[in-house]
Amino acid sequence: MAQARLDIANLRVTYAGNGQAGVTAIEKVDLTLEPNDFVSLIGPSGCGKSTLFNVIAGLQIPESGAVALDGGSIVGRPGCVAYMMQRDLLLPWRTVLENVTLGPELAGQPLARARDTAMTLLHRFGLEGFENAYPAALSGGMRQRAALLRTILCERSVILLDEPLGALDALTRASMHEWLLGIQREFQRTMILITHDPDEAVYLSDRVYVASPRPMRIAGIVPIELPRDRGRDVTLTPEFAEHKRQVLALLHAPERARSAAA
Ligand SMILES: Nc1ncnc2c1ncn2[C@@H]1O[C@H](COP(=O)(O)OP(=O)(O)OP(=O)(O)O)[C@@H](O)[C@H]1O
Ligand SMILES: [Mg+2]
Repeated sequence: MAQARLDIANLRVTYAGNGQAGVTAIEKVDLTLEPNDFVSLIGPSGCGKSTLFNVIAGLQIPESGAVALDGGSIVGRPGCVAYMMQRDLLLPWRTVLENVTLGPELAGQPLARARDTAMTLLHRFGLEGFENAYPAALSGGMRQRAALLRTILCERSVILLDEPLGALDALTRASMHEWLLGIQREFQRTMILITHDPDEAVYLSDRVYVASPRPMRIAGIVPIELPRDRGRDVTLTPEFAEHKRQVLALLHAPERARSAAA
């Protein structure tokens, strides 16, 4: 699959008000992703993160600004990126296999090929033997992995993940982190992950974008200078703690952190 570059420039997004003044969710966001980047976006609740994803996914039209994939505008063009939404629900009346092949099915691609690909990947996603199970029979972690497999099978070079691990307990989450890093190495997609967890952001990413409270601006970018092939032990090092400290400083005092950096 071709690798793509994503450019977002001068983005501003306002929700129209019902007879009242509209709500500006995003004041100004600029963001550039090179092929194979893994970046996280962290910010306070309600600051506009999911709104940003809806715009990148072509589901929402910005007030102004540009979103381009390899130089071509994708504003208002759904289907150009893969998107795991924040409240991603598997369809309860479909089996795991029928759920994960939904993307290719909706895109009108041959179902037999999508099913073959899915069957070869079930093992990698810890779902082997569950292809004919219904979502109700899966654990929370398995459901999240099924939703991720569905997103990966959309075969897009850019993947948006909106808090994909938010609903999981700490142990399951930690094992999903290792797994997600492995998936990223194996499939080499460009990924943006929204999270509320600074440890998760630092551990998984090449860069962490810290968002201000609404209306969203990027309060700062923290490049993660840890080896890309990292194991859990890295989270215990002073280098890891220093990266996390930078993220927290931007989160808790975006203005102060910005003026200190200037
Ligand atoms: N459809 C909508 N109509 C009007 N306002 C909306 C709509 N969707 C979101 N908003 C507002 O836009 C702002 C940003 O919402 P958004 O869902 O993007 O936040 P978020 O950063 O994803 O929050 P969370 O971390 O809680 O998921 C909020 O103030 C929200 O109330
Ligand atoms: Mg959200």
